[in-house]
Amino acid sequence: MEAAETIQSIRSLIKAARDSGKIIGLVPTMGALHVGHISLIEAARKKCDYVVVSIFVNPTQFVPGEDFEKYPRPFENDLDICQKAGVDAVFAPSPEQMYPVENITWVNVKKITEPLCGQFRPGHFQGVTTICTKLFNIVAPDFAFFGQKDAQQAIVIRRMSADLNMPLEVVICPTVRESNGLAVSSRNKYLSEQQKKDAANIYKSLQKCQQMIDSGVKNTSEIIDEMRKILQQVPSIEIEYISIVDADTLQNIEHFTGKVLTAVAVRIGPARLIDNILLDTRE
Ligand code: PAF
Repeated sequence: MEAAETIQSIRSLIKAARDSGKIIGLVPTMGALHVGHISLIEAARKKCDYVVVSIFVNPTQFVPGEDFEKYPRPFENDLDICQKAGVDAVFAPSPEQMYPVENITWVNVKKITEPLCGQFRPGHFQGVTTICTKLFNIVAPDFAFFGQKDAQQAIVIRRMSADLNMPLEVVICPTVRESNGLAVSSRNKYLSEQQKKDAANIYKSLQKCQQMIDSGVKNTSEIIDEMRKILQQVPSIEIEYISIVDADTLQNIEHFTGKVLTAVAVRIGPARLIDNILLDTRE
């Protein structure tokens, strides 16, 4: 496995791979790699001949007051995980490499960045779409891999790449869960054992939504009320939002029909956690 810290060095590694006819896959990450990231790497290895993992804690997607400074950066362990997972190259640039001068050019996806997390993290998606555009321009992958856990991010990036005719395919991979249902996330590291147990109610609330749909309930406020009750069983959970939206427009819907995203964001102790399920009720 190669490790590159500069744009020039990752580009020359990729040029060599491409010159020998290899299909390039990119797994963009902020490090603190876990089994969710490993599943993205595995998906990339299936589709691609040369897999690049980028590790960059992107300052522009953190809103003031968020966890940028304390975001975990276990770099040596991340390299080890990449090596064992069969990654071909790690691109781990410094902030100066990615943002050498004041950044005054931004990529902005409108409308679908406004609801859900967009309401609570103003500017977050602009940071994500801008860094992903930069990474796509540097690595020029044929495929880029993202997790369904960050559903809104995945939808925004897919839409950005379609709207801007980016020459790559965005692949969305299923959420990986702990045995209690908690979606695996780098931010789970902030939780105590008790808080991890409490956080299992997030997935329980999503399962409740699934059960209600399966039993024919269509009214979304009825479903949201039941989901809220499950989350409120745990005093440590502070609900940010429970939303049932159209999976393309991300607008709230009153009746559960078509391709629907049910998404939840909560705070537990020091962590902000998100999770979702995607349901397709079309025939
Ligand atoms: O999902 C993440 O870890 C980040 O938002 C991403 C896509 C790597 C961009 O910094």
